[in-house]
Amino acid sequence: MTELHLWLRHEARTTERRTPVVPDDARRLVDNGVELTVEESPQRVFPIEEYEAAGCRVAPAGSWESAPRDAVVLGLKELPGEPAALTHRHIFFGHAYKGQPGAADLLGRFAAGGGTLFDLEYLVDDSGRRLAAFGFWAGYLGAALAVLRHRGRLRAPLVPTTKAELDETLEPAGAGPDFTGLVVGALGRSGRGARTAFATAGVDPTCWDLAETRDLDRAALLRHDVMVNAVLATSPVPPFLREQDLDAPERRLRTLCDVTCDVGSPLNVLPVYDETTSWDEPARRLRDQPPLDLIAIDNLPSLLPLESSTDFSAALLPHLLDFGVTGPWGRCLDRFRQAGREYGFDKGDDLDH
Ligand SMILES: NC(=O)c1ccc[n+]([C@@H]2O[C@H](COP(=O)([O-])OP(=O)(O)OC[C@H]3O[C@@H](n4cnc5c(N)ncnc54)[C@H](O)[C@@H]3O)[C@@H](O)[C@H]2O)c1
Repeated sequence: MTELHLWLRHEARTTERRTPVVPDDARRLVDNGVELTVEESPQRVFPIEEYEAAGCRVAPAGSWESAPRDAVVLGLKELPGEPAALTHRHIFFGHAYKGQPGAADLLGRFAAGGGTLFDLEYLVDDSGRRLAAFGFWAGYLGAALAVLRHRGRLRAPLVPTTKAELDETLEPAGAGPDFTGLVVGALGRSGRGARTAFATAGVDPTCWDLAETRDLDRAALLRHDVMVNAVLATSPVPPFLREQDLDAPERRLRTLCDVTCDVGSPLNVLPVYDETTSWDEPARRLRDQPPLDLIAIDNLPSLLPLESSTDFSAALLPHLLDFGVTGPWGRCLDRFRQAGREYGFDKGDDLDH
């Protein structure tokens, strides 16, 4: 392996306590010859001392700007607004290839500095499957919050917690299940997480995936008390629920959690709301008679920062040990170059590091 200097940065967003590399995996990187610098961070769920003990060098928060030019800067979410020109190779979720707000600005900053974005969303295997993702914990939290809401136990604002604390609140009250649950997209990462949380709550949900929604039975869907949508839609399909379904007299559905949160997208399978909910107001009432509450929070895994970081880091580690410009990282690079061309920042093949 060529010598790699990774620079784990502090996350700019103050509520972001997750990290893409946890101290145990930092030690593995160091043991494998990676030079790892870790920025101090007041909110990261793991204390800096654990990284130091793992053999990492410590740097002040936000100091990546002055990192050696060959360092690869690693983070999860958005960079701060400065500097205007990005000179390094960066690994993080850029959210810049689907016309999102700020996409042109970010790509322009890379073009200005000659830097490169390896977007974690595009770190995929040969068949296009994501190699490191937070889906399981998104689904786990989505179902957990839906259960709590349905049982009248959801407290706002939501705050980051641990699985042990969360699970205590999910314990079933009686011997048998107190409601019926449905997970759609049940075979995926989020779907598995949702099924696991339902099981903790004493509920054995109905599980639907592609085969069960091909000929969609909306009446059967509406006969469930709680539904968690965890699909990853890649092409448009008929909506699972429409406005008129919410007013159907046979509706038993009382709590709907949309983990997918494709609101506003042409791929949205739940076009029955137009705004996500939040940690401050996790549930919104869509209908009064009978009640129907929606939970649609787009940063669920941040509520379990320790567990979600640990899983993500374990999945990312082998790829960091294999960092380069071929395989999955090569696919990230291709996607970055393609986006640059789409936005008129033609980088060609002039990457010099
Ligand atoms: N809210 C959050 O905080 C959060 C966090 C992470 C991921 N997500 C979202 O959760 C969704 C699922 O992510 P994932 O990692 O579990 O994806 P995944 O690819 O692991 O699983 C998706 C599943 O959906 C199924 N599916 C696709 N179309 C379907 C359809 N029409 N009917 C039934 N099933 C269908 C697939 O077969 C697959 O089993 C994505 O949209 C992702 O963006 C949300």
